[in-house]
Amino acid sequence: MDSKEIYKNKLVSAEEAIGHINSGDRIVTSFGCCEPLGIERALAENYMNYNDVQITNMLIIGDTPWVRPEMKGHITYNSFFASKSNRKAISEGIADFTTSNFYEIPSVLKNVIKPRVSIVSVCPPDENGYVSLGTNIDYIESTLSYCEVKIAQVNKYVPRTHGKALKHVSEFDYFVEIDEPLPEVPSVQLNDVEIQIGKNCAALVKDGDCIQLGIGGIPDAICEELKTKKNLGLHSEMVGDGVVDLLKSGVINNSMKQTHKGKTILGFAFGTRKLFDYIDDNPDVEMYPIEYVNYPPNIAKNNNFISINSCIQIDLMGQVVADTMGQMQFSGVGGQVDFVRGATMSNGGLSIIAMTSTTKHDTISKIVPTITPGSAVTTTRNDVNCVVTEYGAAMLKGKTLKERARELIKIAHPKFRDELCKAFEERFNEKAF
Ligand code: COA
Repeated sequence: MDSKEIYKNKLVSAEEAIGHINSGDRIVTSFGCCEPLGIERALAENYMNYNDVQITNMLIIGDTPWVRPEMKGHITYNSFFASKSNRKAISEGIADFTTSNFYEIPSVLKNVIKPRVSIVSVCPPDENGYVSLGTNIDYIESTLSYCEVKIAQVNKYVPRTHGKALKHVSEFDYFVEIDEPLPEVPSVQLNDVEIQIGKNCAALVKDGDCIQLGIGGIPDAICEELKTKKNLGLHSEMVGDGVVDLLKSGVINNSMKQTHKGKTILGFAFGTRKLFDYIDDNPDVEMYPIEYVNYPPNIAKNNNFISINSCIQIDLMGQVVADTMGQMQFSGVGGQVDFVRGATMSNGGLSIIAMTSTTKHDTISKIVPTITPGSAVTTTRNDVNCVVTEYGAAMLKGKTLKERARELIKIAHPKFRDELCKAFEERFNEKAF
């Protein structure tokens, strides 16, 4: 049978596709910009037909039906990253959350969560019967090798990305054609503090380095400041719109990489149409599964690897809280620890945690004597290396408790330094400075 016929035989309506889901099933879906919203809408409309179904994915942009009260007992939501869509529901026990380093999520899914159904978004098939998983390869690619039921929403707005994103139509069970624009994540407006943090981070990046950029507002500020660099490499779990200009101008050309020379390597794309159009049918950008992209020894194969991630709070020992605020699950671990470790293992590498020194209009210091009770440590004091704020960079690796605390006080907001010095003196029985 030729691929066009295979595809035609598997074309069904959304209602027919969800008819292959049973009560008690665990379902995994693509997330972010490639969440298969059309099929999920059909499932949400028919929720009464299902009991005890669990949907798992990484992160939802915008609202989700899975946290509505009427879903109780029918369909529940379990995510690897909290966002506006489910933070409150997790706090109230309506939705649940699974914590995991990102590179391990494919194995957690396969061996612990064990979904029977995988639902993804793909672009329409090409002449040879290949569709692409678009903006999201990450954990979803491997689910196609073991889930019993594989459903794809075919959407012309999904970019045809390369690497391991390309899949033959024979690898799916059902296709549902629904064209709809993808959810987008716009860049944030940068303020002066973020611009200064961008400058401080960029000062630590040399021509020829290979970089990773995390999630949040700070990566865009850094991209702005990298415009004068040359021959950068990009190997990142995710990217937003900020990298597009650096790629187009050749600042990032991947020429100095030890692996995938000349290619940008990504797990997922998290931006707007500007980014989707750039990665569409672009052989310079290759998407790979997250168990490959985020595996620390693979990251470390590139020399001079600089990882840049952000956090919510850091204590004077250097313990980094990046995904909780007290007991509230605010976001997720994502690939922070994967890249902190990979960059540390890289010859000449450096891991950076970059953050504003304060938040809520300078009323809260992010550098604190002890972390808020209930918070979880995301990156341990043993893993952390360089911490950057608008006031400079603190190098913590190999430093004593007192040295770490002094380094961090120096990059705290001046308004909070006396308070931090007092905490230092109480703890160590000597003056901080
Ligand atoms: N106390 C109280 N509120 C705080 C806070 C603190 N210590 N730190 C941040 N906040 C609040 C901010 O005021 C802001 O509130 P608002 O939305 O009402 O304005 C909100 O939390 C978001 O803070 P912001 O600093 O703008 O977050 P961000 O979008 O830059 O993201 C992280 C920062 C840490 C949440 C994000 O990078 C993350 O989730 N990291 C963990 C995962 C990771 O690093 N993955 C790496 C690979 S993708």
